Amino acid sequence: MTDLTSRKDEALRQIDAATALAELDAARVAALGKKGWVSLALKSLGAMSPDERQAAAPAIQAVRAEIADAIAAKKDALEAAALEAQLAGETVDLTLPAPETPRGSIHPVSQVMDELAEIFADLGFAVATGPEIEDDWHNFTALNMDESHPARAMHDTFYFPDAAPAGKHSAASSEAAGQTGRMLLRTHTSPVQIRSMLEQGAPLRLIAPGRVYRSDSDATHTPMFHQVEGLVIDRDIHLGHLKWTLETFFKAFFEREDIVLRLRPSYFPFTEPSVEVDVGYSNEGGRRVVGGHGDDEGHDWMELGGSGMVNPRVLEFAGIDPGQWQGFAFGLGIDRIAMLKYGMNDLRAFFDGDPRWLKHYGFSPFDQPTLSAGVGVRP
Ligand code: FA5
Repeated sequence: MTDLTSRKDEALRQIDAATALAELDAARVAALGKKGWVSLALKSLGAMSPDERQAAAPAIQAVRAEIADAIAAKKDALEAAALEAQLAGETVDLTLPAPETPRGSIHPVSQVMDELAEIFADLGFAVATGPEIEDDWHNFTALNMDESHPARAMHDTFYFPDAAPAGKHSAASSEAAGQTGRMLLRTHTSPVQIRSMLEQGAPLRLIAPGRVYRSDSDATHTPMFHQVEGLVIDRDIHLGHLKWTLETFFKAFFEREDIVLRLRPSYFPFTEPSVEVDVGYSNEGGRRVVGGHGDDEGHDWMELGGSGMVNPRVLEFAGIDPGQWQGFAFGLGIDRIAMLKYGMNDLRAFFDGDPRWLKHYGFSPFDQPTLSAGVGVRP
């Protein structure tokens, strides 16, 4: 017993004197390790008679517990001291630059949408939206393209299998027709004209930017692209207002005074008369640069969209009296004007999601989309 007590005291002294975890572990192995003296003492209980074992076991167990507790307490103390020492030796330099974190960029299409919303807001236009999953009536019929109209063939799109429930919108004329037809991915932003006229009546002055869909695919056509619709309904509106509005918009958007527009006679079922809007540009080192008259030497015209005076039949479909109100409408390809302003050649790259392309053409999220900011600071 005396031997056990003195060995225990010795072990506790060693534990207390340990200045490093390795020393502490050596003390643990000597006492509690497989061949440590406490373990051997416990093993020796097996050779004793039950009475002897009963008498000797509690003392050995108590020694083992005392040594194990002392080791655990010393381990905590040594670890805390090591941490203290480490913290005391380290300093934080707050003047060091923060590590770079990856930053996203604004897609050129989003940037252009912000820019054009800002320009048209200055001209007094509100922003309207409509659903991308549209019904046949709003996308075609109310825009004067009935089921058999050949112009529908130029807007081949993606149809949903089910017909829409009857009478979902408030147009008296469509309710009379009793159905809205099949659902489809809208082929243009023009159905927003119908929805806005039905909801707000006349007068109206709005733009409607958004995604549209067609079965198209080449360097200047993608199955999903963006348009911005413009609609002005008022009394005494004429083609001169349309031309001035588009010219003013393009001058502000391209930040050039020498913008020349050509209104080329065309046909859309929902406008009468109808005109295509072309802009003059020159070819500079393989890059199209907007500006100048398209018929001048080294220049040409590029189509940016369609427009015209709203067809009186469309006003009737939308519940507006064509005897009192008239207006103009236009639809521009946003991706096309983005390509022209920022010098991209292939429209398909817009939607590949390649981070290298986005890094090159994207805009810093901290840029303000103002006219004076121009192209902005690249991230
Ligand atoms: C229309 O979509 C008419 N809704 C525009 C309109 C509105 C006319 C209001 C009159 C009044 P169009 O199919 O021409 O028209 O398309 C308009 C513009 O969208 C085109 O000039 C072109 O810039 C762009 N565009 C058309 N198809 C694609 C495509 N697949 N990919 C990218 N841009 C396209």
